Amino acid sequence: MLEHAKFITTHAPKNDVCPIFSKQVSAKKAVSEATLQITACGLYEAYINAHRVGDAYFTPGWTAYQHRIQVQTYDVTDLLGTENEIRIFLGKGWYASSISRGVYEPQAGPCSVIAALTMTYEDGTRETTVTDESWCYAESGIRYSDIYHGEIFDATVEPKEWKNAVVTEGRHELLIPQEGELVKQTEVIPAVNIFITPKGERVIDFGQEVTGYVCFPTVGKRGEHIVLDHAEVLDKDGNFYNENYRKAKSQVTYIANGNEDGFYHPIFSFQGFRYVRLTEYPTDELYVGDFSAIVVHSDMKRTGHFACSDPMVNRLYQNVIWGQRDNFLDVPTDCPQRDERLGWTGDAQVFCRTAAYNYRVDNFFRKWLHDLACGQLENGAVTWIVPSLDRNAGAFAWGDAATVCPWEMYRAYGDRRILAEQFDSMKKWCDYVYNKGDGPAAWGGEKQFGDWLGLDAEEGSYRGATNDLLLGTAFLAYSCDLVIKAGRVLGEDVASYEARKQEVKDAFAREFINEDGMLTCDTQTAYVIALQFDMVDDKATYASHLADLVRENGNKLKTGFIGTAYIMDALSDNGYADVAYSLLLQKEFPSWLYSVRKGATTIWEHWDGLKPDGSMWSSDMNSFNHYAYGAVASWLYGTVAGIRPDEDQPGYAHVHIKPIPDARLEWAAAELETAYGTIKSGWKKEKDGYRITVTIPSGSTADITIGDTVHTVSAGNYEYILK
Ligand code: BGC
Repeated sequence: MLEHAKFITTHAPKNDVCPIFSKQVSAKKAVSEATLQITACGLYEAYINAHRVGDAYFTPGWTAYQHRIQVQTYDVTDLLGTENEIRIFLGKGWYASSISRGVYEPQAGPCSVIAALTMTYEDGTRETTVTDESWCYAESGIRYSDIYHGEIFDATVEPKEWKNAVVTEGRHELLIPQEGELVKQTEVIPAVNIFITPKGERVIDFGQEVTGYVCFPTVGKRGEHIVLDHAEVLDKDGNFYNENYRKAKSQVTYIANGNEDGFYHPIFSFQGFRYVRLTEYPTDELYVGDFSAIVVHSDMKRTGHFACSDPMVNRLYQNVIWGQRDNFLDVPTDCPQRDERLGWTGDAQVFCRTAAYNYRVDNFFRKWLHDLACGQLENGAVTWIVPSLDRNAGAFAWGDAATVCPWEMYRAYGDRRILAEQFDSMKKWCDYVYNKGDGPAAWGGEKQFGDWLGLDAEEGSYRGATNDLLLGTAFLAYSCDLVIKAGRVLGEDVASYEARKQEVKDAFAREFINEDGMLTCDTQTAYVIALQFDMVDDKATYASHLADLVRENGNKLKTGFIGTAYIMDALSDNGYADVAYSLLLQKEFPSWLYSVRKGATTIWEHWDGLKPDGSMWSSDMNSFNHYAYGAVASWLYGTVAGIRPDEDQPGYAHVHIKPIPDARLEWAAAELETAYGTIKSGWKKEKDGYRITVTIPSGSTADITIGDTVHTVSAGNYEYILK
């Protein structure tokens, strides 16, 4: 792509100041159509005749830049006149901010931009203007910009001292067309309050934790500063608190030029925040209506909706939605605020089923999975984060993103291409784990995260008590199973994986099941995983024991990232929906609704992020916007409302409907937009039982399970009473 264009940069591409590149272009005849193809090693924002090109942000997105850089194509016909100026701002973005630790430049060159404007004249002839040494550049007012640390914009700077652009050895072979959803500004949230904290600081509250940036009025005399700092929560005294951002400064500075009529927001940096401190602000005249938070994320289409009679559960569900919006900014990130914001594979893996109910995410994951595959080490190990920044790789549950995410996308959308594209990567991951050694001692060993943040962890540890070897072995069996299923869809020979799966299951039984037939590791997560990954035959006994473990713990969880993702299904799919409901409706610490009670507007990383006494868990690992525990929403859709895809006819060609009501709620309902139309399922408590109403869209078929009876139906509206 962009064969004739050159990557252009400045004489000092490592400088903090963001450059603007410029080129005059004349249209010699009447233009019938014009397109701009563009991308950057860094982030770009392009203007033609002072009009912004397109409505995408943070372009070209974040890919494994050393392998792939997406190119965007815009229709710019309406922006062109006879004499035109193209201006392109270039920021460091993920490519060269502190987040990427300098890994990309040695491989793909310095920060640079490459573009081609193609005008098709009305007489059918074409003219293309490409980036080359004839372009010039100057310093822009963006004096500093960094994904983690924020931005400094000096409005007094007028670009001057234009110099010729420097052509840099480009890597044309890295260029690919846009794959994922573009990132857009999706909502503007007005500030709800400005208040003075006990420490005397002025703080704005947006009422909701978001990812994006603040849009603020450009007040101040020439040279005066506006300095904004961002935070997720207040401390227990009600003061501004951002220690948990760790090294991410998340500070936005605006240097006024005296023109007070405008509004400004950062261009190449985003923050995760609910509160903003006016660390410096030139005036005491503050109007809450002047400040807004602009929400930015991948432009996914909303597909799922859930509501029930309990307002706290509804708030929890909204928190899951926000967790996804705040963390699906081109890659699925662990969190949007501290010095991580990385595509942690384990987090994405446990959340992707929920994500695919909430929003249409097949393109989003397809792009990310391509990056996962090209970052996979020679031995097949999947890197901890994707796009990868180093060779840290090979953790179970994290690396299993390679098999779980493609399969979940196939289940939800029925498109076998994602399996075809990822099949090699899926196998490579399984082979890697299997080839580590001939038994559980190898499959779960080495650097692992375990049941990350499980509450049964030893004091001071991040890792839950469940045995790593048990978990690693179970995940290998699960991944083999997914390779087998994917291979069958694709018509591949999977006999060796079938044999392997059996071998792994046998090893699991030998190693982790004691003479009483129970697990050698007596934790909630161990039983959850044994049930969910089909590691045991006697599911009834295991489920009953899991239910006991939960009840004995006062109907509370002890699970971390792994156990939490599956505990609700493990209970309700095996006859203990009532226990799962007890977990859902639990309001005491630790529980989902505990965080809601504490005012959460997103999902917390830690069950005890904010402790019952108001103190914080710690500042070193305490995000209030980590979607992993939001995986519970797939249970709201899939069990409370009972809508699940049929793996054999995926993408909701055939639907399983099996709502499981509970008397502690009056009603619950979910809707899911699919390729066939909208599926609805809900129930309401009535005198003679639960009235269940279901809608199946045209083209879909369903089996609707009401108690012990299965009704096989095609499109239509259905009503039943469940006694
Ligand atoms: C991230 C997690 C991630 C983990 C690996 C953390 O720092 O925030 O969400 O999965 O590291 O255990």
